[in-house]
Amino acid sequence: MRILGIETSCDETAAAVVEMKRGKPRLLSNVVFSQMDLHKEFGGVVPEVAARSHLEIILPIVEKAIKRAKLGWEGIDGIAVTYGPGLPGAVLVGTTTAKTLALVKNKPLYAVNHVEGHVYANWLLPDAPKFPLLALIVSGLHSQLVLFKDHFDYKLLGQTQDDAVGEAFDKVARMLGLGYPGGPAIATIAKLGDADKYPFPKAKMQGKYDFSYSGLKTAVLRHLQKLVGKDYTFPSFEIAPLLQPQQIADTAASFQKAAVSVLVEATTLAYSEYKPRGVVIGGGAASNQELRKQLKRVLPPPAGGPIAYAPGHLCTDNAAMIATLGCFVANSPAGEKRPANPLTLETNPSLSM
Ligand code: KG4
Ligand code: ZN
Repeated sequence: MRILGIETSCDETAAAVVEMKRGKPRLLSNVVFSQMDLHKEFGGVVPEVAARSHLEIILPIVEKAIKRAKLGWEGIDGIAVTYGPGLPGAVLVGTTTAKTLALVKNKPLYAVNHVEGHVYANWLLPDAPKFPLLALIVSGLHSQLVLFKDHFDYKLLGQTQDDAVGEAFDKVARMLGLGYPGGPAIATIAKLGDADKYPFPKAKMQGKYDFSYSGLKTAVLRHLQKLVGKDYTFPSFEIAPLLQPQQIADTAASFQKAAVSVLVEATTLAYSEYKPRGVVIGGGAASNQELRKQLKRVLPPPAGGPIAYAPGHLCTDNAAMIATLGCFVANSPAGEKRPANPLTLETNPSLSM
C-alpha cells in the first residue's frame, strides 16, 4: 500500500509518498518547500502570506513527490492530509487539494491530525517505536505529552496552558535580535553562553504534566529591560541593539536551559509513573540538541535505549509523517478509522488530540 501525504498547516508546503509493507512504513519520496524566507522579514509567520504561497505551489509539490517516488497516480492507493490543527487559511489549501484529488483520481481520503503526525515521523526510523509509548510533541504551535497504549488509543497527559515552547524560542530570539525561526538561532548562540548566568523561574502548574511558557517569556523580557537599564515599559523590539554579544549568548543559554528543563522534568515524571517501553519526541523543537542531551541523560536506557529521535528534517513540518500516519489509518481494522468523505470533510484548525 502506498499513501500520498499532504501537509500545509503552517509555513511548509509538503507532499510525500510512503509505502507500507507488512506493517513497516518506508519513505519513497519527501518534498518540502519551506516558506521561511517569505516570513523572515516579518519576524514570524504571516497567515495570509502562508495560505497564498501554499496555493501557488501545492500542485507542483504533489506532482514532484509522486515523480520522485518513481510512480504515477495508478501507484497511489490513498491520500492522507492534515485537516487540523493549524492556521485556518493554510490548512484549508492542503485539505481542499486532497479532497479534489481524491475525487478526481478516485482514491480514498484519510484526514489526519497534524500533532499525531509528528509522533509518526518516528515510525520511519529503523526500529519501530514500542507501545506503551510516551510521546513529547514540541513545536511552534504545540507542546504536549501523550501516552499511547496502541495506535489511535492514547491519553493526553498534559499540554501547554499558553504559548508553545517553539513559539517561546521564536519570541525570545526576536527580543535578542536573532531573527526567525528562533529555535535554531537560540540553540546556536547558546553554545557561546553561560546557562547558569541568569536563573529564570519555572512555572508551577496545577496539572503535573502541564507546561506554561508565557511567564518565562515575560521573565526574559523583564531581565533584558533591567540589563539595558530601562523600565518595564521599554519596548521589546528596541532592546537588541543595546545588548552586548555576551549578554545575548548568556540570556539565550539561560532561557534554553529553563525552557528545556520544564519538558525534561515532565517527561521524566511521566516515564517513572507509566513505565513506557519507548519514548519519542517530535515537532520542530525536538531537534533541539540540549533537549535530546538532557533526556538521554535522565532517562535510563533499558536494552537498546528507550528514546528515539527522528532526524531534524522529519521533526519540523513535513508530509512524510502525515503519509506514515495515513498508512496506519488505512491499515486499521474496519470501523476503527474510515476514509473521509471528500464531499463533506471540513478542516478543523483548532483540532486537539
Ligand atoms: O514543527 P514545526 O516545523 O512547526 C509547527 O508545527 O509549529 O516547528 C517549528 C518550531 C519553531 O517555533 C522553531 O523555532 C522551533 O520549532 N525549532 C526549535 C529548534 N528548531 C526548530 N526550537 C528549539 N530548538 C531548535 N533547535
Ligand atoms: Zn508541526
